[in-house]
Amino acid sequence: MYGWYLEVGTQAISLPIWLHEESSGLVPLATHRLDRLRHDICKDDCKKFVYPITWNRHACGRDILALAITGLIYFALLLLVECFMNSYILREAKFRWSESHVGKCLPGDVVEDSDVLEEEERIHNLVAEKSGSGDEAMSVSELTKRYRPLCAVNQLTFGIHKQECFGLLGVNGAGKTTTFRMLTGDVRPSKGNAYIQDVSLRRNLKEFQSRLGYCPQFDALIDRLTGREMLFLFGRLRGLSESDLQAKVKKLIKTIGLEEDADKQTQFYSGGNKRKLSFAIALIGSPPLILLDEPTAGVDPVSRRKIWSILSLVRGKPNAAILLTTQSMEESEALCTRLGIMVNGRLRCLGSIQRLKSKFGQGYTVIVKVKSKRRNDVEFIKEIKTHVDSNLKAAKLKDEHQGILQYHVVDPSATLSSLFKFMSSMKEEFDLEDYLISDTSLEQVFLALASAQRVCSE
Ligand SMILES: Nc1ncnc2c1ncn2[C@@H]1O[C@H](COP(=O)(O)OP(=O)(O)O)[C@@H](O)[C@H]1O
Ligand SMILES: [Mg+2]
Repeated sequence: MYGWYLEVGTQAISLPIWLHEESSGLVPLATHRLDRLRHDICKDDCKKFVYPITWNRHACGRDILALAITGLIYFALLLLVECFMNSYILREAKFRWSESHVGKCLPGDVVEDSDVLEEEERIHNLVAEKSGSGDEAMSVSELTKRYRPLCAVNQLTFGIHKQECFGLLGVNGAGKTTTFRMLTGDVRPSKGNAYIQDVSLRRNLKEFQSRLGYCPQFDALIDRLTGREMLFLFGRLRGLSESDLQAKVKKLIKTIGLEEDADKQTQFYSGGNKRKLSFAIALIGSPPLILLDEPTAGVDPVSRRKIWSILSLVRGKPNAAILLTTQSMEESEALCTRLGIMVNGRLRCLGSIQRLKSKFGQGYTVIVKVKSKRRNDVEFIKEIKTHVDSNLKAAKLKDEHQGILQYHVVDPSATLSSLFKFMSSMKEEFDLEDYLISDTSLEQVFLALASAQRVCSE
């Protein structure tokens, strides 16, 4: 690289000399033509012809020198502006300006969850005491982004423990990607801060970024580079030594199953392969915190499982942690140790999957399946409904189609054994095809909580 600069520099310096000295160069040629033209117009009455590249007042030697000097001055100015733009003072001034001018995000009309409030208090105390994330892998404090008039992210506060995979769930538009973009320094928060140990997002952005690996929602790949070259590029940016890099890139390509396409330009990759490569880029250099924005969207089931097993390994490393967004409840259940569901830029709930299920998904789901020959028998189905209504007091009919009735039983006194007893006697009595009793699923919890997003944004 330095050799290239040296060569360009030498050529730039030697160009005027070449123009001046070379007998077959452009300047002598032009000079000769001008001389002839001058002679044709004013014969011997003309002023004396001056060679153009000299210090003479009528020549352009001085102008060339002035241009060279102004070039240097503007280059120095550019460097100064670049350094100043990235300086802490200017960034802090911008933060303060946006805090006071962008306006406040109101807390909304949803009742705050006790676990969310507890987590907020824990993080506030942590930040106040240690002015950093303490023993947490990362702490996010009152992070806010306002795109007028919308509050995309509203005072988001949570912490990620070490060796944890924290899942952020939410319907489209809940504010997940905006949160990620703020955490990676891609967009400036309107308010709030985040810490990785004592490194602050606002104060030491570069260092904060150096501790993150990021797989964005929309692949940010360079079309003309191959997958392997992309990994080499990011490996070098992360500061891996050349001797390590070869082996690490090879291993990573093999682990994510990109061997066949590793030497193809990324513009020819399928959507799934692009996701896999973006995921591998987030992992290269083993950063302590990995941010993954829907990493398995559009990836085939086999590769998805490979990604899950890699993430489980990464999560197990000391000091490592993962922040993940996904639309797949199966993925959340497979990977996440804690979850937060975002609604309108706020955390609506937070906790382990079991905690969320027991807190928000109380009761059981009961599905009754009628034999196909009686599916259209309206009177018979009505009879079944009356029977369930009179015997299972807290049962609510949630869905009904093609002879399948889905009930949600929220009676706290109802036990699994009593439900099974009731359903097996009902199966005999009504000659049902089948029935199913299950715990509330994460998906049902998600649907119940995330429905608030639709109501508010409508
Ligand atoms: N650059 C932007 N300008 C204005 N509004 C934006 C911008 N980026 C995102 N938003 C809005 O912020 C909200 C949250 O978006 P996003 O974070 O992408 O949601 P998610 O990733 O949860 O689907 C959406 O309503 C979106 O329209
Ligand atoms: Mg998104």
